[in-house]
Amino acid sequence: MKTHKILLTGAGGQIGIELTARLREKYGRDAVLATDVQVSPVLEADGPFELLNVTDGAALEALFARFKPTQVYHLASLLSATSERKPQLAWEVNVNGLLLVLEACKVHRARLFWPSSIAVFGPNTPRIMTPQRTVIDPSTIYGIGKLTGERWCAYYKAKHGLDVRSLRYPGLISYAAFPGGGTTDYAVDIFFQAVQQGTYTCYLGPDTALPMMYMDDAIRGTLELMEAPVDALKTEEGYNFAALSFTPAELARAIQAQMPGFAMDYRLDERQAIADSWPASIDDREARSEWGWKPKFDLPAIVSTMLEGVSRKLAAEAR
Ligand SMILES: NC(=O)c1ccc[n+]([C@@H]2O[C@H](COP(=O)([O-])OP(=O)(O)OC[C@H]3O[C@@H](n4cnc5c(N)ncnc54)[C@H](O)[C@@H]3O)[C@@H](O)[C@H]2O)c1
Repeated sequence: MKTHKILLTGAGGQIGIELTARLREKYGRDAVLATDVQVSPVLEADGPFELLNVTDGAALEALFARFKPTQVYHLASLLSATSERKPQLAWEVNVNGLLLVLEACKVHRARLFWPSSIAVFGPNTPRIMTPQRTVIDPSTIYGIGKLTGERWCAYYKAKHGLDVRSLRYPGLISYAAFPGGGTTDYAVDIFFQAVQQGTYTCYLGPDTALPMMYMDDAIRGTLELMEAPVDALKTEEGYNFAALSFTPAELARAIQAQMPGFAMDYRLDERQAIADSWPASIDDREARSEWGWKPKFDLPAIVSTMLEGVSRKLAAEAR
């Protein structure tokens, strides 16, 4: 088996915590270097961890020269709601940080994974079963950064032969780490509030359908994409990547089916406008046909796994 040396940026976030654990299981703890701009006690306890700010080009280059990664998972980012509040910082981290990572991967010939998002689409994109290639006119600073990032990745692939792979993640649902300021965070928060209080006040309206995915599916899909033979991958931009779509009202009903008495009300905030500019469902046929993508978790499975996992996590924290 080829020896891998894997570097993650932004590893202390919602995806990085679980992806690092999975990569360490698969390739061995010392083959996987987790980095983040903040200390992560969970990651430090389980293997090599270093502080790295991805906007610091000199530090990034020194780390690449020392560690010599063969694969890089570049997760460092500000999410959608935070980006709207801090647009300049969002551009600096999300776009300029990506440029530094692309350049380092080019120099050191590392394969790169960089997540795009359903936020790449915009208000004039067809909202139902959004195709891979369509009108792409993002109206949020986060989405504009994802579109710019997709084009930079395609440019490095075409111009420099860089092996860069990307997925347009939907809202991701998990309980290991809290989500970091996105528009789909309600689909995680709701489970913590359901277990702790039996009620939830949702900041999106009851009929706001959005594409979602359970984290285990997202991690498995990410690794499958990174392991796919390069010749199979014909799509140059981020792959549409889907599992299911639901509205807040549908999620509340699915929770009530397993937790009778759960109640939800609504108080909308600025995240509603962001959600309204995104697709309601995604057509991911390219991912399915080119590298065999297939999700496993449906809504009842997500609800039972989350209710159980959140209860266990809260009980462990209370001890
Ligand atoms: N979670 C989702 O639902 C979702 C959906 C679509 C796309 N994505 C994308 O996946 C990637 C990871 O998302 P996440 O949910 O894990 O985000 P998160 O906010 O939970 O984690 C991001 C991490 O990046 C770190 N970070 C921020 N600025 C940094 C910097 N300058 N240098 C180094 N690290 C820095 C943060 O400390 C944090 O640990 C992002 O590119 C995001 O856009 C996530």
